[in-house]
Amino acid sequence: MLKGKNVLLAITGSIAAYKSAYIVREFIKKGANIKVVMSESSTDFITPITLSTLSKNPVIKDFVKDKNSGEWNNHVDLGIWADVMLVAPATAHTISKLSNGEADSFMLATYLSARCPVFVAPAMDLDMYKHASTKKNLLILKENGVSIIEPDSGELASGLEGKGRLKEPEDIVNHIYDYFLDKATLKKNKIIITAGPTHEMIDPVRYIGNNSSGKMGFALAEEAQKRGAEVVLITGPVGLETPYGVKRIDIISAEDMLKAIKKEYSQANVLVMSAAVADYQPITFSDKKLKKKNEEMSIELKKTPDILRTLAKLKKKQLVIGFALETNDEKNNAYQKMKNKNLDAIVLNSLNDKGAGFGYDTNKITLLTPNKELEFDLKSKMDVAADIMNFIEECI
Ligand code: CTP
Repeated sequence: MLKGKNVLLAITGSIAAYKSAYIVREFIKKGANIKVVMSESSTDFITPITLSTLSKNPVIKDFVKDKNSGEWNNHVDLGIWADVMLVAPATAHTISKLSNGEADSFMLATYLSARCPVFVAPAMDLDMYKHASTKKNLLILKENGVSIIEPDSGELASGLEGKGRLKEPEDIVNHIYDYFLDKATLKKNKIIITAGPTHEMIDPVRYIGNNSSGKMGFALAEEAQKRGAEVVLITGPVGLETPYGVKRIDIISAEDMLKAIKKEYSQANVLVMSAAVADYQPITFSDKKLKKKNEEMSIELKKTPDILRTLAKLKKKQLVIGFALETNDEKNNAYQKMKNKNLDAIVLNSLNDKGAGFGYDTNKITLLTPNKELEFDLKSKMDVAADIMNFIEECI
């Protein structure tokens, strides 16, 4: 659940700060990316170099990176980067500042910029922890949506015994792991997503293809993986990086794509065909490069296999979703495709909508099912992918 997650660890000035090295190691072992921010006083207990070495990222403490050049550390970017922020150990002083929304340090400003879930793991002496002010501040944090990882009881640095010991690093990391497991709304689902164009080869260097960038399919794969699904991404030739944790299968032609899906299909419960499959392929493939001869030439074509129609016929438990990119009479054409191909739903893109379709980072879709229509605004392809996954979750 933590693989590929961006974890932002904020360390504050408690003796328990030495345990943050173990927290970093636990996150790294579980495949997370980790960045560390430190309060000024935490550096009295553990050095930035220990944490930068373990986290493999520079540690940030101050707003200003280089006084001479004016280069600064961007707390806003860091807040947006994080999938989760953990303040551990959190002193009574830091808890008070967090609850008041103060921003007089890089760490506090980053907390205010974070859009992700925030966890606070207090560490302090028992009487400080029991104090009405601390209790009130923790309550404010809870009301603000922050999760508190309760400290343990035991021997404290003061020599006293009681509640206030920072939770053990392994328990802290497991707590966050469980949070993501709970949120993994698509766990135990195997989803096949196709993306990009197919290339139907004419000779070794020429093909019939289209301009599909694959961005929509890759965004869908990333979103499904984030929600805990086992994702198989079957893609035509595109220049995109494989989303973390996704099994990628590269194919060239429609026939390859059909073969690749068939291998995975029986164990899958969802198929999303966002690939722009070529409709025709050359009847013959010339294994030598064709030479230029006459003024005109023609290539005889035959239909490629209709992948969706073939697989929808074989479906048992699978939810099968197609895409339709249309230029005219959009809804009718899309409904017709959904019916002809026996689909559970179809995602309609209209080329008449600005910012929708091939190549853009945005998309505007209408989701059609046999009994409902859902219209969405123009959004980033990542947000569109989230809308489609919400719909899939509802269906399954
Ligand atoms: N599709 C498919 N196999 C094909 C062609 C298309 O599985 N040989 C899928 C696409 O991935 C998409 C849906 O069918 O999810 C609709 O694709 P589209 O090209 O719009 O549909 P066609 O049936 O090919 O109709 P058109 O004549 O509009 O191209």
